[in-house]
Amino acid sequence: MEYLTIALGKGRLAKKTLEILEKIGITCEEIHDKSSRKLIFTDEENKIRFFLSKVPDVPTYVEYGAADIGVVGKDTILEEGRKAYEVLDLGFGACRMCVCGPPEAAECLKHKDRIRVATKYPNIAKDYFYNERHQTVEIIKLNGSIELAPILGLTDVIVDIVETGTTLKENGLVVLEEVCPLSARLIVNPVSMRLENERITNLISAIQNLLDEKED
Ligand code: PRP
Repeated sequence: MEYLTIALGKGRLAKKTLEILEKIGITCEEIHDKSSRKLIFTDEENKIRFFLSKVPDVPTYVEYGAADIGVVGKDTILEEGRKAYEVLDLGFGACRMCVCGPPEAAECLKHKDRIRVATKYPNIAKDYFYNERHQTVEIIKLNGSIELAPILGLTDVIVDIVETGTTLKENGLVVLEEVCPLSARLIVNPVSMRLENERITNLISAIQNLLDEKED
């Protein structure tokens, strides 16, 4: 039997995903060893391999079939625009993609001014402003701490993830508009879905059952 390969993004979602996999009997002790520099981990019994990559690379591995399955946030799926089946909403990692800024910036949105927008997600921001709001804007890509941009006068607003709202609040910013809700999703390579249908479908069902149990 061939290995099924699962791509996980380094960070918040990986921990939760490993917990879920362990609950359905897919285990891998070595992945918890923080001192290890190993990149790929295997569960020999179930013939499953995992690896941790940078988050935006997860859909790339899945599109090309280097990974059969990936777990990644909806934000990354939308931003990367890769070809993969999105088969399951895992529910955790729930947050929102929003347009945020100082309260005064609400006016620039209302009047559809040609504003500057800072974001780690230029494709999502472009799609939202051009195709949904029909507003021409200048998008400036940043790599983190996006909230700094309107505070320092680099941009008028930001398009960013809001989870608890604490970062905004502590920096005098507010949510101006919601772009879309986000959460962790399971994605599958279309060819793998055909060739390994039974194993992948069983895996999806096991996770689905576990999530349903939690809801009850
Ligand atoms: C994310 C996001 C916000 C913050 C939102 O940043 O970009 O800054 O979390 O969370 P909150 O609403 O609960 O305050 P992250 O911590 O991933 O770091 P980054 O700014 O470097 O992207």
